Amino acid sequence: MELNELFGLAGKTALITGGGRGIGRMMAEGFIRAGASKVYIASRNQTVLEQAAAELSDDGRCIPIAADLSTHDGIAKLVSELSAREEKLDILINNSGAAWGAPMTDFPEKAWDKVFQLNLKAPFYLTAGLLPLLEKSGTADDPARIINIGSIAGEVSNSLGAYPYGLSKGAIHQLTKMMAKEFASRHITANAIAPGRFPSKMTKNITSDEEAFKKEVATIPLGRFGRDSDIAGTALFLAARSGAFITGAVIPVDGGSLND
Ligand SMILES: NC(=O)c1ccc[n+]([C@@H]2O[C@H](COP(=O)([O-])OP(=O)(O)OC[C@H]3O[C@@H](n4cnc5c(N)ncnc54)[C@H](OP(=O)(O)O)[C@@H]3O)[C@@H](O)[C@H]2O)c1
Repeated sequence: MELNELFGLAGKTALITGGGRGIGRMMAEGFIRAGASKVYIASRNQTVLEQAAAELSDDGRCIPIAADLSTHDGIAKLVSELSAREEKLDILINNSGAAWGAPMTDFPEKAWDKVFQLNLKAPFYLTAGLLPLLEKSGTADDPARIINIGSIAGEVSNSLGAYPYGLSKGAIHQLTKMMAKEFASRHITANAIAPGRFPSKMTKNITSDEEAFKKEVATIPLGRFGRDSDIAGTALFLAARSGAFITGAVIPVDGGSLND
């Protein structure tokens, strides 16, 4: 097999939730550069999505769809818009996510609902809605791919005050394994990527504070935050032919933090 067949995405259609910024955008850029036919990016902010799509491709291969995945209707809208445009979907990346930190003694109940809805229920129902399209793509040699973006926060015991966040990420890792088992006979794989620290809006409170940033970097064995190539490379490896025989895995991309 040629190298570009092994690690390329020619002819593939992908959907990346939250693909307009942060980690989602890093993966969208990687997929466009790997030759994907179409990369749909979906989240709430249409302006951000349109700008990202224009910056990532000048040939219309990156396509924005505005959808609020915190609601049942928003998920249904994304499923129906994508189903109206595509007969099959090769790669689904459930990446949209939110965090909420507060002391345990003062932890708002609405934070549980917000975080669990977006980080866990949305991937569940979006995947369920898109199963018919994924099934049409998958073959024994080249299965359709589901990639859930978890977090090492779902594995470590240090909560950092983000209780529902860590629990939702632990749960999405477990959901990934359940999906892998359930969907294997339908030629669909499911894997999770568990990022460590990456620069994005979610980690801006650390990256914008020089002292906090230095302290955080000191906890990472490889001594730096993640980069776009780190996350895009891992997602590409799972999405391309290279990842065809991997399912049910949770892959840390964290500079060694998990083993520290
Ligand atoms: N950065 C890190 O260090 C790190 C570490 C581990 C895991 N992660 C995970 O990586 C994923 C991406 O996070 P990020 O770091 O790139 O943070 P980010 O820049 O804050 O991105 C969050 C993304 O989620 C989308 N989103 C938020 N609410 C949404 C909603 N209701 N419906 C649809 N989309 C929604 C946002 O787009 P809109 O605002 O347009 O809706 C945005 O694209 C998350 O699952 C996060 O938990 C990040």
